[in-house]
Amino acid sequence: MNVLLVGSGGREHAIAWKLAQSMTGQLYIAPGNPGTAMCGTNVDIGSNDIAGLVDFAKTENIGLAVIGPEDPLAAGAVDAFTEAGIKAFGPGKGAARLEADKTFAKKIMRANAIPTAESRIFDDFSDAKAYIASRDEAVVVKAAGLAKGKGVFVCNDPADGILAAEKIMRNHIFGAAGAKIIVEDKLLGQEASILAFVDGKSIYVLESSQDHKPVGDGDTGPNTGGMGAYSPAPVVTEQLMDQIVKEVLVPTVDGMNRNDTPYKGVLYAGIMLTQGGPRVLEFNVRFGDPETQPILMRLKSNLLEVMLAVCDGCLEQVALEWDPRPAVCVVMASGGYPGDYEKGKKISGLAQADRLKDVVVFHAGTADKDGDIVTAGGRVLGVTALGDTIADAKERAYQATGTINFDGAYYRRDIADKAIN
Ligand code: AMP
Ligand code: GLY
Repeated sequence: MNVLLVGSGGREHAIAWKLAQSMTGQLYIAPGNPGTAMCGTNVDIGSNDIAGLVDFAKTENIGLAVIGPEDPLAAGAVDAFTEAGIKAFGPGKGAARLEADKTFAKKIMRANAIPTAESRIFDDFSDAKAYIASRDEAVVVKAAGLAKGKGVFVCNDPADGILAAEKIMRNHIFGAAGAKIIVEDKLLGQEASILAFVDGKSIYVLESSQDHKPVGDGDTGPNTGGMGAYSPAPVVTEQLMDQIVKEVLVPTVDGMNRNDTPYKGVLYAGIMLTQGGPRVLEFNVRFGDPETQPILMRLKSNLLEVMLAVCDGCLEQVALEWDPRPAVCVVMASGGYPGDYEKGKKISGLAQADRLKDVVVFHAGTADKDGDIVTAGGRVLGVTALGDTIADAKERAYQATGTINFDGAYYRRDIADKAIN
């Protein structure tokens, strides 16, 4: 079967790397990156050009389309492929609102008693300002729409919160994605990413993982798309995982069915493990980036088979098998990210790093320039390693990172420390 994977980030390189292990037909990636080009054939069609993608799929006899990023999912890519008679992995447009519209997510959570932070929704800046000013505690201010993982401001006091609301609603830094904001209570605890395959009714939870959202060591500085991840996250005990499945995943999937927006694909719950129990920070309607890199390095099962089972609604017919060894992914970023940064810096040492045992260097923001691999985005590489322990996996990942160089390369030095200490 021929497969078309849509996207061009580190997550897509990891998915392409895993799919390539079980492909019988051709694997195409649109638009892909130099990393995905090592796993299949890159196709020059943008990930938001849904009509172009569907046309290509018809011409190339694609049996399954896998949609990586949230934007095409929110724009209805899965519906478009399905209408054309092509299986597509991911939720339809209605269900993708769980990520694309945080006010919708809050409504689903409220209607189904899913634990989350207390929140208020505003579409008027003056109202938001008055509400935030009336609060003594720290608040979190979120753009309701899609903002590439950067739409959340964790504020230490009301003045900070008002400033964040102003940036989103008055200065429109996220455009229309900030027409509405959510103001919610700040939760304390460790975070975990809980991903599950969902086929409309059955839920297969993946191994746990933890992301590192802030740019700086010790979780300092502004939030990014994610600076590194590891799997499993020991903080998620078996008992906590059972609780999250029971209190979050099951009621979400049931609630989505009752709402006539049935869920298929990967459901990602960003969870804060508070003293009062797990609380949902956000839902994503796709694989996490960079969580997917360590998770898929640990997956032993045939990913293509699992994805087809999700599309066909027969997840109970497949099994998920895991490598018990932990994996750690360190993101190498362009200096300046998540703010402004320069592109086009030549990357050296990739081949040496890839030759290290149990190490895979996943490409994210890279480009091929006359045979050289150069930087082309904020998050450039996801250097990922398996190890006998998390500490061992961390050491291997950093050993590999040390062989790679580019002008202005920046990465956190403390990825996975929370699990080790
Ligand atoms: P989100 O995109 O909603 O997951 O938010 C991005 C990041 O902001 C999360 O991974 C958390 O680190 C932080 N965050 C979001 N909501 C809250 C909250 N209610 N309390 C504390 N931190 C939060
Ligand atoms: N790693 C966070 C995300 O994928 O949204």
